[in-house]
Amino acid sequence: MSSNGHFNLLARVLHWSMALLILAMLFIGVTMVASVHLRPGLINLHRPLGILILVLALLRLYNRLRHRPPPLPADLPAWQAWAATASHWLLYALMLAMPLIGWAMLSAGGYPIVLWGGVQLPAIVPHTPSLYALLRGAHSLLAYLLFATVLMHVGAALFHAWVRRDGVFQAMARGERH
Ligand code: HEM
Repeated sequence: MSSNGHFNLLARVLHWSMALLILAMLFIGVTMVASVHLRPGLINLHRPLGILILVLALLRLYNRLRHRPPPLPADLPAWQAWAATASHWLLYALMLAMPLIGWAMLSAGGYPIVLWGGVQLPAIVPHTPSLYALLRGAHSLLAYLLFATVLMHVGAALFHAWVRRDGVFQAMARGERH
C-alpha cells in the first residue's frame, strides 16, 4: 500500500478472509481434540483449511513486502507503535508456523497427510515418534499464543476504532472513498 492511507484490496480481502479462517481453525482444533465423536470429521476439515492458510499466508507476506502499509498516526505513543509492529510480525510468523508444524507433526507421526479425496501431501520430516511428541506440544502451545495475540489484536483494533478514532481501523476496513 498505499499512497492513499489504506491497505490495498488484496491485503484487505486476505485480512478478513484469513481472520475468519484462523478463528474457525482454532475452534475446530480445540473441538476435535476434545470430542472423540466429532474428531474424524473435523480433522478432515482441519488439514485442508490449515494448508489453505499456509498458501494464503505466503501470498499475504509477498503482498506485504511489495506494498508498504499506511503509516501509523504520528501521535501514537512509541510503545504502542512498537507493540503494533511486533504483534503484526508475530501474527505472520504464527500464520506460517502453525500449518507447517501441523504438517511436520503428522509427517513425524507417520500419518498420511490427506487433503481431500485422493490428494495427499508428502511427508516433510522423517517418521520419528519423539519429534512427533515435540511438534504436537508445539502445535498446542503456539495455538494458545496465536489465540492470545488475536485477542490483543482485536482489542487494539477496537481501541483505534472507538476510542482514538484515528483512521487505523478504517485503513483495513475499507478502501478510499471516491
Ligand atoms: C493456521 C493453521 C492451524 C491452526 C490455527 C491450528 C490449530 C489447532 C488447534 C487449536 C489444535 C488443538 C490443540 C490442542 O488443543 O491441543 C490443533 C490440533 C491439531 N492440528 Fe492444527 N492447526 C493448524 C494447522 C494444521 C495443519 C496444516 C495440520 C495438518 C496438516 C494440523 C494438524 C493438527 C492435528 C493432527 C491436530 C490434533 C492433534 C492430536 O489430537 O493429536 N493443523 N490444531
